[in-house]
Amino acid sequence: MDGKIIDGKEISRQIKEEVGREVERLKQDGCTPGLAVILVGNDPASASYVGSKERTVKALGMHSEVIRMAEETSESELLGEIDRLNGDPAIHGILVQLPLPKQIDEQRIISAISPDKDVDGFHPINAGKLMAGLDAFVPCTPLGIMVMLERSGVSLKGKHAVVVGRSNIVGKPMSMLLLQQDATVTICHSKTADLPSVTKQADILVAAVGREGMINKEHVKDGAVVIDVGINRGEDGKLRGDVDFDAVLPVASKITPVPGGVGPMTIAMLMSNTLESARRAFKEGRC
Ligand code: GUN
Repeated sequence: MDGKIIDGKEISRQIKEEVGREVERLKQDGCTPGLAVILVGNDPASASYVGSKERTVKALGMHSEVIRMAEETSESELLGEIDRLNGDPAIHGILVQLPLPKQIDEQRIISAISPDKDVDGFHPINAGKLMAGLDAFVPCTPLGIMVMLERSGVSLKGKHAVVVGRSNIVGKPMSMLLLQQDATVTICHSKTADLPSVTKQADILVAAVGREGMINKEHVKDGAVVIDVGINRGEDGKLRGDVDFDAVLPVASKITPVPGGVGPMTIAMLMSNTLESARRAFKEGRC
């Protein structure tokens, strides 16, 4: 079993330690990286994610600003806040926690964030740059998965990677990153016919569907590396992934658990993207 379970918590701890050291170095040069997080409304899961982002930013010695706005906040009020942060030299990363209340157009908000401060990598400019193979902020979850694969010694060149899910946050950027590393990539989604026949071809299988336990033994080839992006809270209050872990464990060569797999990597990569943004600002005399 040793080495079979990819320990996202430990890899994320290493990344955060590395980022923390680099933050100290940049601070000695006179530039303190700053992250602003905007939370609109009262969703408890979002509030908990934002709280843990705030704690991590502070623990790594960075400047943290959290803006909590009421559920009934208008789109123009939120745009005004983003505009202010776009112009604030102490802020290098801006993250608007999703989902947003229904009166606010998510895409309009994402597009209002300066691409230079878009540490989520959701702005169409950054999405387009990733597609074109240019230097860009990359969404934190797929970026974290790439780091996990690399640090677990999984080679991608010439391998068949199957991504289940086509979201802008995970599925699409994940596919681009795997392609950049010379994997042969297939994207599956809710309309894919005979899903198991496709996923069974995967050397690397990434499940990002948001349905508890939907990937089971029938979907997985012997020896495949299985990455579970799902965070589903069951009726018993426990977190479970998109993969039926107990069923797939004997078949997979490596697998990520939930919790303690992909989840902790997302926040680590947000810290890394914020540091990178501050470094760029410093080089350009904007910090
Ligand atoms: N909601 C769930 N995941 C994320 C994320 O990675 N970024 C933002 N902004 N909101 C989210």
